[in-house]
Amino acid sequence: MDLGAWLKQTGLERYEAAFRDNRIDEAVLPHLTAEDLKEIGVATVGDRRKLLAAIAALASPTASAESAAPRPFAKSVPEISAERRPITVMFCDLVGSTALASRLDAEDWRSLVNAYLDEASAAVTGLGGHVLKKLGDGLMALFGYPHAQENDAERAVRAALAIQRALSELNDRNGGKAPELVARIGLESGPVVVEATGEVFGDAPNIAARVQGLAEPGAVVVTANVQRQTAGLFVAEDRGACQLKGVQAPVTLYRIVRASGGRRSGARTLTPLVGREEELGQLRGRWKRARNGAGQFTLIVGEPGIGKSRLVEEFRATLGETPHTFVELSSSQLLQNTPLHPIAEWGRQRFGADEPVDRRLADLENTLQLIGLDPDEYAPLLAPLVGVPVPEERAPKLAPEESRRRQLAALVTWFLAGARSQPVALAFEDLHWADPTTLDLMQALAERGAQAPLLILGTARPEFRPPWSLRSHHSVISLSPLDRADVAQMVGGLAARHALSQEVVEGVSQRTGGVPLFVEEVTRLLLERGGEAGGLQAIRPRCNNRSRRGSTGSAKRARSHRSAPCLDAISPMRCSRL
Ligand SMILES: Nc1ncnc2c1ncn2[C@@H]1O[C@H](COP(=O)(O)OP(=O)(O)OP(=O)(O)O)[C@@H](O)[C@H]1O
Ligand SMILES: [Mg+2]
Repeated sequence: MDLGAWLKQTGLERYEAAFRDNRIDEAVLPHLTAEDLKEIGVATVGDRRKLLAAIAALASPTASAESAAPRPFAKSVPEISAERRPITVMFCDLVGSTALASRLDAEDWRSLVNAYLDEASAAVTGLGGHVLKKLGDGLMALFGYPHAQENDAERAVRAALAIQRALSELNDRNGGKAPELVARIGLESGPVVVEATGEVFGDAPNIAARVQGLAEPGAVVVTANVQRQTAGLFVAEDRGACQLKGVQAPVTLYRIVRASGGRRSGARTLTPLVGREEELGQLRGRWKRARNGAGQFTLIVGEPGIGKSRLVEEFRATLGETPHTFVELSSSQLLQNTPLHPIAEWGRQRFGADEPVDRRLADLENTLQLIGLDPDEYAPLLAPLVGVPVPEERAPKLAPEESRRRQLAALVTWFLAGARSQPVALAFEDLHWADPTTLDLMQALAERGAQAPLLILGTARPEFRPPWSLRSHHSVISLSPLDRADVAQMVGGLAARHALSQEVVEGVSQRTGGVPLFVEEVTRLLLERGGEAGGLQAIRPRCNNRSRRGSTGSAKRARSHRSAPCLDAISPMRCSRL
C-alpha cells in the first residue's frame, strides 16, 4: 500500500514526512491511536479525527446490512467530526419476508411490519439502545451510542431477547389472522468510529450483520466478544468457531437461550488476591458472632472496581466445610423499578424455572416444612415472589397493599427460620441499585437479623445511603485503594512470566489510583503491547471520560459508573468492559 497516495487521498499529505520519519507502515497503521498521532505531530483535533476515521474505514466499509463485504480502501474520507468508541451492534431481520409479503396485500404487509418494527424499537430504546436504521423489515441498533453505559453488551442481549418475546406475543395476538413473523438477531461488540451523521465505521456492524444471517429463525446469536462481557448473565449455547464471509479469522458464536438470573462473574480467572487481610479478619469475626446466634449486618462500601465483590468471594472461600447456607442476592442496574427483583432472580435459580410447575411448588413447600414453617400458610404468599405459580384457589384473596405487607413479613420469617435451622451468610450485592421494596426487606432484616445466626453482607458504591440507622450489630467496611506495594504485587501476579520494569509498575500504580479493576486492565493492556514503559504513555490517568457517562448525564449516574483510566486511545474494546 502506498501511504503517500493514501494520505493524499485523505487530503492530509502534509503528514507524509512525519509518517515516514516515525516508520509508520501499513502494518502499524491500524494500531495508531489519537495519542500516537499527537506524538508524531498531528496537532489539530480535526486532522486526528479525519485520520482515525480513514484508518477505521481501511479496515471496513461504511456499515450497512447490504455493504457487508470488505473494501480495501475508503474512497473518500469523512469531513465531519467522528468519535471512536466501543459499541455493541445489533442486526435484526425478518425470516422469509419476501415470500410473506407476496401473500399479503401491500397495505396489510406494511402495517404488520410496522407493528413489529415498533415493538422492536421500543425494546431497543427501553434498554438504553439507539435505533440507527430501519432497513426495510430489518433494524440496526447501537448500544453505547450516543451515550456509553457500563453494561451496553448486556443491554443489547436483553433487548434482543425482548424483541423475540415481543414478536411471539404479536403472533399470538394476531391469532393466525396474519402470517407468523420470525426474526433472526445477531450481535457483535467492538471499536467503531461513529460520525455525527450517524454513519458507523468499523468491523463490528459487518460482523453483526453476518452473524444475524447465520442465526436460526427465532434465535439470538452473539459473538465471543459479546459473550465475554455477559458471561454468567445468560444461558448460552456454544456454536463453535464459524468462518464469516469477509472476516479473516474464524469467530466463535453463541446462541443465547435465556437470561440465567446469574451474576456477572461468569467463568474468569482471578488475579491472586493481594492485601485485604484486615477486612477478611473482620468478616470472619462477624461470622463467628453470627454463628453463635448474634446476627450481624456488615456493609462493604467502595468505589466501582475497588474489590467489594472480590472480598465477598474471598470470605465465602473461607467458610469451608462449616455447615452453612450461602445465599447470594444481587440488584441489577436495569431492574431498579421492579419490586423485589433480586428475590425473583434468586428464586428462579433456586427452584429451577425449567422444572415442571408442580415440582417447583412441592420443592418450596418441602423447604418451608424443613425449617418449621407451615407450607399452607407461607407457600401461597412466597411462591409468586420466587417465580413459582400457585393454583388459583390457593392464592390469598387480599388487597394489594395488605398482600405486599404480608409477603414482606413472610420473607423475613423465611430468612430467620432458615438461619435458625442452619447459619446463613446472605450476600447482597450492589445495594445502590436495589428497588424500594427490596430496601424495605433489607431494613427489616437489618433490624431483626440480630436474633438469628445470620450474617448479612451488603455491598454498595459510595452513593448508597442506607435507609436504616446503625445498630450495635451493624458495621461498615470502607475499602480503600491498594497501596503501591500491593499494586506492585498485583502487577507481579498478572505478569508472572514477564519481567516488568520498576518504572512500568510505578506507572501502573499512578495511573490506576490503586483500584484493582484498573490495575488488571492496564497491566493486561501493557502486556499486550509488549510490557514496555512506552506503552504507558498512551494511558492517561483516570479521568472523567465524557463518553462513559450514563445516558441521563446526571452527576449521580456518572459517579455510579466505573470511571476508567482513559484507555480508549489504545483499546476501545477494553473500555466497554469497565
Ligand atoms: N485485593 C485484590 N487483589 C487482587 N485482585 C482484586 C482485588 N480486589 C479486586 N480485585 C479484582 O479487581 C476486579 C474488580 O473487583 P470487584 O468486581 O470485586 O469490584 P467491585 O468493588 O465489586 O466493583 P463494582 O462496584 O463494579 O461491583 C476483579 O477482577 C477482582 O478480582
Ligand atoms: Mg461488585
